[in-house]
Amino acid sequence: MFTCSNCSKEYSKWQGKCEGCNEWNTIVEIAQTVSPKSSRSKTKLNFKDVKTVKLSDIPKAVNLRKMISGIKEFDNTVGGGIISGQVILLSGEPGAGKSTLALHLLEALSKQGIKSLYVAGEESPEQIKHRADRLGLVESNAEFLQETNIELIENYVVSKIKNFDLILIDSIQTLYSTNVSSSSGSVSQVSECTDRLTNIAKGYGVPIILIGHVTKTGNIAGPKILEHMVDTVLYFEGDKKYEYRMLRVEKNRYGSTDEVGLFKMTEKGLKEINDEKELYNPQSKDNIGSSFSIALEGNRPIVVEVQVLATKSYFEIPRRTTSGFDKSRLHIILAIADKILKLKTYQYDIYVNLTGGFSIKDPALDLAVLKALISSIKNIPVSSSIAYLGEVGLTGEIRKVFMQEKRIKEAKRLGFQKVLSSNECKRVVDV
Ligand code: TYD
Ligand code: MG
Repeated sequence: MFTCSNCSKEYSKWQGKCEGCNEWNTIVEIAQTVSPKSSRSKTKLNFKDVKTVKLSDIPKAVNLRKMISGIKEFDNTVGGGIISGQVILLSGEPGAGKSTLALHLLEALSKQGIKSLYVAGEESPEQIKHRADRLGLVESNAEFLQETNIELIENYVVSKIKNFDLILIDSIQTLYSTNVSSSSGSVSQVSECTDRLTNIAKGYGVPIILIGHVTKTGNIAGPKILEHMVDTVLYFEGDKKYEYRMLRVEKNRYGSTDEVGLFKMTEKGLKEINDEKELYNPQSKDNIGSSFSIALEGNRPIVVEVQVLATKSYFEIPRRTTSGFDKSRLHIILAIADKILKLKTYQYDIYVNLTGGFSIKDPALDLAVLKALISSIKNIPVSSSIAYLGEVGLTGEIRKVFMQEKRIKEAKRLGFQKVLSSNECKRVVDV
């Protein structure tokens, strides 16, 4: 059996490109090893055990304890807190700050009297201590276990299950089982280890957080493979060269996927951004090629600064580079700018950037991009007290955006003097 380590599509034989996600070299073989120790192979089949139960007869889960860390940006994102037996996958690119977030979380939980076990497969306890010192975390009563063999971890955890209220694995890709022949990080190792940990979580009601790296190469199994095996999938996003980090929910069996957590990576670890006011200064200067908009992530309005730089191109095909903004969307905006506003964008190299390292797919930003583009080409500053809000349609119309009124309210609260949306302006020629 072969499977794509990016999107889990299965194949009977190897091929170079995955038809599911169009990635190259992500298809890997999975070893068909049945673990002799697994509980399944031990159980004798007893046909009398199989019976149904009526929904109304299922007792209410009474002892579903919710662990509230007090880190609001985390608690709200996971749906109010961590629930007994919940398996959470915390994924993100290397360097996003997953281990840092995990340390903050364990420290915060520790203050609530919650005891955690930190299984460190990636770093030595000394390295973790060094990070904890940097973050100023001193009170944590979390215990550290430096081990990567799942059989040993399983044994230890089960024998000491009363000592721990929560288990954190950093990272799932470093664990291995002796029952599977492939190397750590392969699809079969990652799946086997996750399966065993999930059994512990469900069997003993202890929540487990799995840290997983997102990578594009086929050698290390992408967390996509694990998504269906866990209850909750969190993505910790943000460009490590910039300060802002976003915690998104891709899946949650215990809550909504509309919540988003915002953090700032500082010298002393992660700081929560509980209020967007931190992201916008109403006194900021008017700049050429810069405009503001209110994006929506899940249910949460987020103020973003869009920057566009247009410079005369000396290439046969002018450059288009974007950071945090969808490139195909930019091409559409440029086509409209050429056809309707006669901006001759083909004469320019164009760079688009969302400041702070945000990466946002929201058509509501179109108008801000267009405004910053016009500003850069014509060398006229854009007022920083206006928020631009609108999807630009192919005929040059400005379209109403999803939850427009909510965004306008937020813009006013943040201190913008004016919002330019489809309410004020129907066509791009009037912007
Ligand atoms: P880390 O938590 O190790 O990332 P991950 O576990 O996702 O790979 O943190 C990665 C980056 O964060 C690292 O490049 C340095 C930076 N950082 C800070 O800026 N401030 C801090 O206080 C800490 C601990 C890390
Ligand atoms: Mg790490």
